[in-house]
Formats: sequence, C-alpha cells, structure tokens
Amino acid sequence: MPFIVEEFNKLPNLNLKLSKYMNIKKYFLKNIFSIKILSKKIKFKLKFWIKKTFFFNMLKKLLFFFKNKKNILQQHFTHKRKERTILFYKKKYNIHTLLETGTYQGEMIMAMLNHFNKLYSIELSISLFEKAKEKFKNNKKVQLFQGDSGDILQQILVKIDTPCLFWLDAHYSKGITARGLLETPIIKELENIFQRKNINDVILVDDARCFNGTKDYPTIENLRKYVLSKNNNLEFKISGDIIRICHKI
Ligand SMILES: C[S@@+](CC[C@H](N)C(=O)[O-])C[C@H]1O[C@@H](n2cnc3c(N)ncnc32)[C@H](O)[C@@H]1O
Repeated sequence: MPFIVEEFNKLPNLNLKLSKYMNIKKYFLKNIFSIKILSKKIKFKLKFWIKKTFFFNMLKKLLFFFKNKKNILQQHFTHKRKERTILFYKKKYNIHTLLETGTYQGEMIMAMLNHFNKLYSIELSISLFEKAKEKFKNNKKVQLFQGDSGDILQQILVKIDTPCLFWLDAHYSKGITARGLLETPIIKELENIFQRKNINDVILVDDARCFNGTKDYPTIENLRKYVLSKNNNLEFKISGDIIRICHKI
C-alpha cells in the first residue's frame, strides 16, 4: 500500500513532462511545412550557385568525357586523319586555297588556318554559320557563307581563279546539323566544280561509306562513272572513308 501512494504522488510530475512533450510535438507539426519549404528554397539556391561555378562546369565536362571517352577519342583521331589527308594533297598539288562545304563548328577551318592562304566554307544552318562567323571574325583569310552549298557554290567559284582543294563535307548528320532539300548536295556541288576546268583542283569527299545508293547518296560506282564522264583523265580512288578525285601526276 505505501508503494502505491508513493507512485501516485509522482504522477503530477509525469503529467507535466507529458504536456511539455505534447507542446513541442504540436509546435513541430505546426511548423514542419514551413521548415520543409525553407529547406527546399535553400537547396534550390545552393544548387543554382553551385551550377554557376567554374569548378562545377569543369566537373560536368570531365564526367561527360569519361562517360563518352571512347566516342570522343575516336572522333578526335578520325578528324586528325582527315586533316592529314587534306595536308597531304595540299602539299602534293601545291594548293593554297581551301574550299569546304559544311562548316559545322569550324573545326576543319581552324585546323587548316596556318596551312592555306585563303579558306572558304559554306554552312546551311543559320545558327552554326553565326557561331562560326563569331569564331573567325578576326581572321581575314577566312570567308564564310550561309546557304545550300549545291546552290551557292557557283557564286563563290566565279570569284576564285586559283587552284582549289575542295573538302566536300556538307550533309545532314543528325543532331544540330541542317538538312537541305536532299541529305547530300554532292552531285550539284560536283556539277559546279566541273564547270571550272581548273586542272589543278583536288576534290576530297568525306564519308565514302555513305555512298550506297540510299538517302540521296549515289552508289560509289555511279559516282565514279559520273566523275569520269566529266573528265576521264581524273583519278578516282577511295581510302580511309575519303573519296579522292584528282589529276594524275
Ligand atoms: C559533318 S558536318 C561538317 C564537319 C566539318 N566539315 C568538319 O570537318 O569539321 C556537316 C555539316 O554540313 C551542313 N550541311 C548539311 N547540308 C548542307 C547543305 N546542303 N549545304 C551546306 N551545308 C550543309 C550541316 O549543317 C553540318 O554542319
């Protein structure tokens, strides 16, 4: 019996503790919503500022590189091989003017800048053309044009009387690239070039693998027949995914 009394006497104290606990709980539940909103706002602002930092951008680029390193490296080495091919023909035929169709991001123009006296490039996409224009705005050797190379090549060629090295690379290739009426303007480009009758011109056509008779591409055999019908003294050969059309020397 004395034990029960003793326990009973402790009860008010326990009640007090319970009510304190309930009050805290009530306060917390009442404010949890606003706490959540506040933490969301802070998180959002933090994310925004972190994303703006140089370090974050570097990290993003590094992650992208490691995720796609196989493709990036392959593209890099393929482009380097194409650059070496252009330089080989430049040297062999002693040509100082480069005319490219399909500027894209100006990578080839940039790589050839120190090797040619004059560089022309045509791009169909207005946004790619504007970006390239900005990139080469301080270089007087470079002249860029916007439009379908099949249509505007003629206007450019009438002003050039020196031998040209043609890098024909205009075609639709997904992503941000443009598409004209046809996936490739190659036949119209060649028609314009063959009107020049400049025997020292060299024509290099990229992506030989695409010439299989589908998507507006002629087959390699039909292209060969067409080229030789224009001039049967020309050499027509394919190596490393590049079609090479030049005079025998
Ligand atoms: C493979 S990319 C060119 C890459 C560039 N020559 C290089 O070596 O760095 C092809 C480009 O041709 C452009 N293009 C597509 N059709 C075209 C056309 N009819 N006339 C001119 N450019 C065209 C695309 O927008 C794209 O930028």
